[in-house]
Amino acid sequence: MFQIYDYKEIVTPLFEDKDLFVRSIGQTSDIVEKQMLALAGQRQEEQEGKTSNLVLRPEGTAPIVRSYIQNHLDKKENLSKFFYIGPMFRGERPQKGRLRQFHQIGAEAIGPGSASPYLDAEMVILCTDLLKTLGLNGFEVTINTLGTGDDKKNFSSILRGKLEPRVKDLCPDCRQRIERNVFRVLDCKNNDCQDVVRQISVGYDHLAPESRDYYEQFKSILSDSGIAFVESPRLVRGLDYYTHTVFEISSPSLGSQDALGAGGRYNNLVSQLGGTPADAVGFALGMERLLLARPGIKIPAVSLAVFFIALDKLSFQYAFNLLNQLRARSIKADICYEMGSLKSQMRIANKKQAEYVIILGENELKNKTATVKNMASSQQITLPLDAPALEQFISRQGKREP
Ligand code: HAM
Repeated sequence: MFQIYDYKEIVTPLFEDKDLFVRSIGQTSDIVEKQMLALAGQRQEEQEGKTSNLVLRPEGTAPIVRSYIQNHLDKKENLSKFFYIGPMFRGERPQKGRLRQFHQIGAEAIGPGSASPYLDAEMVILCTDLLKTLGLNGFEVTINTLGTGDDKKNFSSILRGKLEPRVKDLCPDCRQRIERNVFRVLDCKNNDCQDVVRQISVGYDHLAPESRDYYEQFKSILSDSGIAFVESPRLVRGLDYYTHTVFEISSPSLGSQDALGAGGRYNNLVSQLGGTPADAVGFALGMERLLLARPGIKIPAVSLAVFFIALDKLSFQYAFNLLNQLRARSIKADICYEMGSLKSQMRIANKKQAEYVIILGENELKNKTATVKNMASSQQITLPLDAPALEQFISRQGKREP
């Protein structure tokens, strides 16, 4: 799926300097305040006598931006499109759907001048496409916009103005959040706080006309692309780096931890972390939550195009050579290393759901041919015993890997 959308895999370390997450997710976020898992001891950096506190990564976005800056990726391409799959760590009280070690599958697109509502839509489409491919249905896409950094500041003061008269009705955490991180009041799970939030009107007055325009474009692109969504001005997300578009995908079957995944745009993060300004957008899905929503999920594998069966030692030598040549031509192929009878090797080919079996034995070597069997139709044909001929035949059936 990621290949189809032209995203390349990126792998970053499992630990990073704590400061990276403080500067990106935010000092007052729940993740930084309560959930960082620190590695024992401090590390004395050789330069500048600086000390660093290493923590297990709680998420993938900030490490990818760090890597983008450190490796000067902006000089290599206009828009870098990455995907990642890996463990993340948050020191939370474990419960169903909320783990200390969990796995995210995500994507990030980073590049100067890439703030296009079409790219935001691509993220939502990719994310929902992935979910559908994994057999998940009945999920809901919720969207919102936070606007620019200035719009967010406006929004904070409007919210503070509305919430301060109701401070005594809020939970102790939210009383503090009003000053420190007022957005968090909007998605507090406490019933009293939710009542207050329902009673104050939260709209889009804080947005500059360009931000509204961007959001309207994003919504109409989603609609034109056939993506159903609901809009919630209260969706603010718990990570500070977002600007403009934010979205969350939830599944009603999950109970209280109902977010399958979430994402959004973060146009200021690259410059905030010291890089040349670049716009960016991304998302991450929680893999354990996907499994809870659809137990027994299977990642659809690319099927095995060819399985070689050799009937004697010399044929195996030929078959092994052909196998390597087909693989070098990006054809998914395998061989039976246990040279049993034709019947037992066919059984293995069946189990592996190979689409074609290529059989080599004494006769084939003598005639310089290969017997190719289509496993679905049981039809057999004879082809010349050379890789280009076999490759041509298999490729014609559309069996080459992208
Ligand atoms: P997040 O909302 O913190 O966003 O996490 C994304 C998803 O990871 C959640 O929707 C959930 O499915 C899963 N998840 C989070 N915490 C846990 C946990 N303790 N146990 C199990 N699953 C969990 C981010 O991490 C952002 N980096 C997403 C993003 C990418 N935004 C832009 N690019």
